[in-house]
Amino acid sequence: MSAFLRKGRAVMLAGLFALLPAGCDFSAHPSIQYPDQQSPAFEVYARNCSQCHAPPLPDAHPASRWPNVIARMQQHLVQRSMAPIAAGDIVVLRAYLEAHAASEE
Ligand code: HEC
Repeated sequence: MSAFLRKGRAVMLAGLFALLPAGCDFSAHPSIQYPDQQSPAFEVYARNCSQCHAPPLPDAHPASRWPNVIARMQQHLVQRSMAPIAAGDIVVLRAYLEAHAASEE
């Protein structure tokens, strides 16, 4: 094999590895740990709430405040002509947020 070919292959491999971390990165910041990160509820939450910004940690608000925040996010979707969050998904992600919410003030 010529030196030229070997070099080409190394460059290609380097390119592949450079792409990998971005491809596997679910949230904006890979070091953030969410509660129940392996659960189906987290998947529903992350899928719906990462379209515009990184999904916030559930303890960003007490349980009593999450419904209003979710309603405001629906408005943001509608304003941008994006598909609203499905009713079934809202039930699941709301339960996820409320289960891990901050304590009430
Ligand atoms: C269509 C885009 C969009 C989607 C989808 C979206 N957000 Fe937001 N989010 C925004 C914008 C814009 C802001 C800043 C303005 C505001 O606070 O309303 C924001 C701000 C926030 C904040 C910080 C402000 C606060 O009240 O604490 C939280 C928390 C939040 N979003 C949670 C969520 C959750 C939970 C979901 C999923 C249900 C979600 N977002 C989905 C656009 C979005």
